[in-house]
Amino acid sequence: MALYGAAATVLSGLEAHQGSLKTLVYGSRFQNVRQLYALVCETQRYSAVLDAVIRSAKLLEAEKKLKPHLAKVLVYELLLGRGLRGGGRWKPVLSRHKARLQAEFARLKVKRCVSRNEDLLESSPGTAQVIQLPRFVRVNTLKTCLDDTIDYFKREGYSYQGCASGLDELRALEGKRFFLDPLLPELLVFPSGTDLHKHPLYQAGHLILQDKASCLPAMLLAPPPGSHVIDACAAPGNKTSHLAALLKNQGKIFAFDLDAGRLAAMATLLTRAGVSCCEIANEDFLSISPSNPRYSRVQYILLDPSCSGSGMVSRQLEEPGAVSPSQERLHALAGFQRRALRHALSFPALQRLVYSTCSVCQEENEDVVQDILQQKLGPFRLVDALPLWPQRGLSTFPGAEHCIRASPEATLTGGFFVAVLERVDEKSSGPELQLLAEEPRPSVAPKKRKRRQKKH
Ligand SMILES: C[S@@+](CC[C@H](N)C(=O)[O-])C[C@H]1O[C@@H](n2cnc3c(N)ncnc32)[C@H](O)[C@@H]1O
Repeated sequence: MALYGAAATVLSGLEAHQGSLKTLVYGSRFQNVRQLYALVCETQRYSAVLDAVIRSAKLLEAEKKLKPHLAKVLVYELLLGRGLRGGGRWKPVLSRHKARLQAEFARLKVKRCVSRNEDLLESSPGTAQVIQLPRFVRVNTLKTCLDDTIDYFKREGYSYQGCASGLDELRALEGKRFFLDPLLPELLVFPSGTDLHKHPLYQAGHLILQDKASCLPAMLLAPPPGSHVIDACAAPGNKTSHLAALLKNQGKIFAFDLDAGRLAAMATLLTRAGVSCCEIANEDFLSISPSNPRYSRVQYILLDPSCSGSGMVSRQLEEPGAVSPSQERLHALAGFQRRALRHALSFPALQRLVYSTCSVCQEENEDVVQDILQQKLGPFRLVDALPLWPQRGLSTFPGAEHCIRASPEATLTGGFFVAVLERVDEKSSGPELQLLAEEPRPSVAPKKRKRRQKKH
């Protein structure tokens, strides 16, 4: 109970402007500051969602002695956190209301047309304004084209501003105006807070509401039509539908995910998006045999594994990045990420692989990539991904700047990481292989570095 009580006190202090989040957390007498910080931040982040669920479940009317801030913390833990651990006398009370709360939560998701918990954040009235990230909209070229979409919005009274010249224009975007993104084709940018969940083009699958950073993996994998692709951890499928659009539905996507519920949501999403080249399987990617003839033509793999989601911490929090997952959790996640990456690189025909996370933690990003390169699992090099992208990988090993990072501050997106690995053509392998070197190799005679030809 101590943790939940402390979190409720901090939340109430924040609301009453009694101090900053940091002051209130440190001022509490709860010893595990990190745990308290994380719980408060997460509860804050979902505040509007929790309010809506508590209201519709009529929890406070039924439990008159339950204070609103404590209710919010308890419901967060119950629905979105680790489940109620402790909770004192409130635990049996919350258990009585659990089914109702879960039903209201599910109903809210259906109402807002989202399948993932995180998507509720973007669809929450008020949240987007606080975060002030633009609303990115990917035009689904399986169902429509950019010009028709732009015309549709113009007919609805939106004013099309052409291709944005840079992030400043996007930052200043407001009213009924929209841009074409300067870096990603077929990505439209609307002002922060634009809610298109009920828009007919979204309902018909012509538009995919997807953060710009999350459009990078498929774009950088760039499988040509006709190719065979594995989407290793695919649900709920936004990136899969993007891959299908790039393939023009020609070729094959083998999409795997462990979570049957998320796969069900994915099936709906793919049907709505008009995807017909995808085979969905409720399987552990690690158990998929690279030597199975079914996958003998797989040249492209997208690996977007489970991660801490630390990049999804919104800017409404006072100190972005301050909420960090525990070392134990990071260690476990990074272990899985390494295994999955190693497994992916063992597919015999693989030519290019994109590894991505919505985490900002080095342990899940640069460290995983560096470790895999050090293991020299094959002739793979790190591709200098989208050189015009402003934020690069942390300089933790030579070549890390070839990776992409994204953040609300630098790129007006969620926090994200992308690395692109490519099989080195034996004939042109010499200088490129230097990127694989984990340590400087002073004994190697200086060679003239070839400029990489391939740009994405
Ligand atoms: C970050 S999400 C993927 C998001 C997805 N790529 C998208 O764009 O919509 C990670 C997914 O990996 C799945 N997952 C975790 N371990 C897995 C495994 N061993 N094999 C397949 N999928 C796994 C989780 O169920 C989760 O749906």
